[in-house]
Amino acid sequence: MRVDTLILGAGAAGMMCAAFTGGRTLVIDHARAPGEKIRISGGGRCNFTNLGTSPANFLSANPHFAKSALARYTPQDFLSLIARHRIAWHEKTLGQLFCDDKATQIVAMLRAEMTRAGAELWLSTTLADLSHDGAAFTATLDREGRRETVTATHLVLATGGKSIPKMGATGLAYDIATRFGLKVTETRPALVPLTFTDSGFAPLAGVALPARLSNARASFDEALLFTHRGLSGPSVLQLSSYWREGEAISVNLTPAAPLFDSLRAARQSGGRHDIKTELARHLPTRLAEHLATEWALSGRLADQSDTALRALSDRLSDWPLTPSGSEGYRTAEVTLGGIDTRGLNSSSMEAKALPGLFAIGEAVDVTGWLGGYNFQWAWASAHAAGTAI
Ligand code: FDA
Repeated sequence: MRVDTLILGAGAAGMMCAAFTGGRTLVIDHARAPGEKIRISGGGRCNFTNLGTSPANFLSANPHFAKSALARYTPQDFLSLIARHRIAWHEKTLGQLFCDDKATQIVAMLRAEMTRAGAELWLSTTLADLSHDGAAFTATLDREGRRETVTATHLVLATGGKSIPKMGATGLAYDIATRFGLKVTETRPALVPLTFTDSGFAPLAGVALPARLSNARASFDEALLFTHRGLSGPSVLQLSSYWREGEAISVNLTPAAPLFDSLRAARQSGGRHDIKTELARHLPTRLAEHLATEWALSGRLADQSDTALRALSDRLSDWPLTPSGSEGYRTAEVTLGGIDTRGLNSSSMEAKALPGLFAIGEAVDVTGWLGGYNFQWAWASAHAAGTAI
């Protein structure tokens, strides 16, 4: 069979790309259903974009690479698309847009767009062999037990990253890219909970509060959640993309303002209760109790000196913790790193050294923050490649 474009991966980027390519397009995926990550995303409602999308919301060895594609396909463009498909949406917080109803509406929309563009989709299909003869790619495919040979002028790598292997994530895009001379930067789990051995956090599992998490490279003010194995919640997932093994992070448990003035005022107006009780007025009780034990806080508030209150306030706004690791690809929302952007044209996503080869979506070394940015990159990079083809 001969096609103009063969797209590997029917996820967010692959399906979106097929809506733009024109000519004869075949999309293949080893899964039984397309867009599985879209289906489960955003708690089943898909945080499909972010109104505040800018290149600053992405990590990449080349921070300029994403600019062109993001500028040419914006959140407003995606909103126009979903308006045509009558999908209702709402802004949750921080510019994050979600479906009112179900994430599967986005999958159905992309399927409909593929059909409109005349693209074909083969599911339960794996790549057995791939070659390039200087003019075209020849792929040997296993389609539900049958062998098929497909020749294509353009090959688009859209098989995503390594996160959540249970959902079918593989390193196929990296392997093919490497085989055709592209480089792949170091990959690691990102947007992932951080773990602590012997942290004593287990009794705190389920405690949540607003916090500011920081290290030397980034700082995020969002919810923090204690888990049985460590820390999670949006602020932790965000910072995990900037964290490296062995490094400490700083947790500010009183991000609105340091507690010193308020502790002093409480001492002045009585202060007969103990310091632990006072702490529980500002923090969830279980956390206040944990910190009181950890930091050996005892005695009445009235007996605390200014120096002691200042030290406590400072500690609450800069609690240094050193994670022992992360939950890894098992639960990571994305993969940091990927196909080195230096080998790709930023306006078309085409490999500089091998015209006809394209890479889009999470497979590329462009990783968004939490909050709809990763889908926006999938849409924008897919649009860049699809329209270039
Ligand atoms: P994606 O992973 O979507 O698609 C890759 C496709 O390739 C899959 O269909 C897979 O089956 C297929 N494939 C892989 N290996 C293959 C092989 N060897 N052979 C054949 N097919 C193969 N982002 C966001 O912006 N908002 C959100 O709300 C969320 N929520 C979210 C929740 C969870 C639980 C996860 C894991 C991730 C998110 N994300 C997110 C991230 C987002 O899902 C992700 O960045 C995009 O799906 C990436 O799109 P791609 O098309 O590049 O890869």
